[in-house]
Amino acid sequence: MAWQSEILLLEGETPLAQGTHRMLFVAPFDPALIIKVYRTSRPAPRNAWKRAKRGLHRVLPSLRERPLLREYAAYLELKRQQVQRQAEPPVANWCGIVATNYGLGVVYERIHLGDAGIGPSVSALWRSGELGAHLPLLDEFARRLFDWNIHANDINAGNVVLGLRNGRHQFVLVDGLGDSHLIPIRTWSRRLNERSLHKRLDKVVAGTTIHWDRLARRFMCDEAQSSAGTVPRRTDTRGETC
Ligand SMILES: Nc1ncnc2c1ncn2[C@@H]1O[C@H](COP(=O)(O)OP(=O)(O)O)[C@@H](O)[C@H]1O
Ligand SMILES: [Mg+2]
Repeated sequence: MAWQSEILLLEGETPLAQGTHRMLFVAPFDPALIIKVYRTSRPAPRNAWKRAKRGLHRVLPSLRERPLLREYAAYLELKRQQVQRQAEPPVANWCGIVATNYGLGVVYERIHLGDAGIGPSVSALWRSGELGAHLPLLDEFARRLFDWNIHANDINAGNVVLGLRNGRHQFVLVDGLGDSHLIPIRTWSRRLNERSLHKRLDKVVAGTTIHWDRLARRFMCDEAQSSAGTVPRRTDTRGETC
């Protein structure tokens, strides 16, 4: 990777991964970090509102950066909490902004399992049949979301990644931090934020044979329902049944 006038040239580099909106490159100045930039070619959204929004972003590129500001506000709040608590939040660290030939690049901690790549997301683990074996860690992730009162607008199976961090395996939120509401009521009310976290945890395992149990605040295998079909039964063999 080369620099030109302090602009990082990513053209021709192979991304480590890409999501619906952004692609990831390993940071040339520190392999523990990744850089996210908006994808150069993205399929046109089917939804008319999203298509209009994209057109607006072309005319007013600064609008595209608004989610970044919301994300940063939530991140700042998290860091304040971290100073108080002297503990580690379940969210990938933000490490700055760099100018690239693809526009603004946001630098984050690379979540990985001790190799040079990136850790598997919940959706990748589900596809490879390994998610069931990781449910205790997913429970722990959910517990930490509530404990830290994380404000996030997009917790989904692609945005939760398994990593080895400070010697501990854990799931980490890598995208979707911040309150996207015009009036940030979730930021003001812990109760409303908890309601939103429950909905988002439902979404993390949507389309799998696992569900989020709001009362028990744990993930359950659908097969582990009791014969009455209402009371979820916990077993120590979730990994084998999910
Ligand atoms: N900090 C990170 N560490 C490891 N993997 C990541 C990190 N951020 C994103 N990823 C992986 O890259 C994918 C796409 O990144 P994401 O930020 O979710 O892009 P998008 O904005 O398009 O959804 C994620 O689904 C995840 O698998
Ligand atoms: Mg994402």
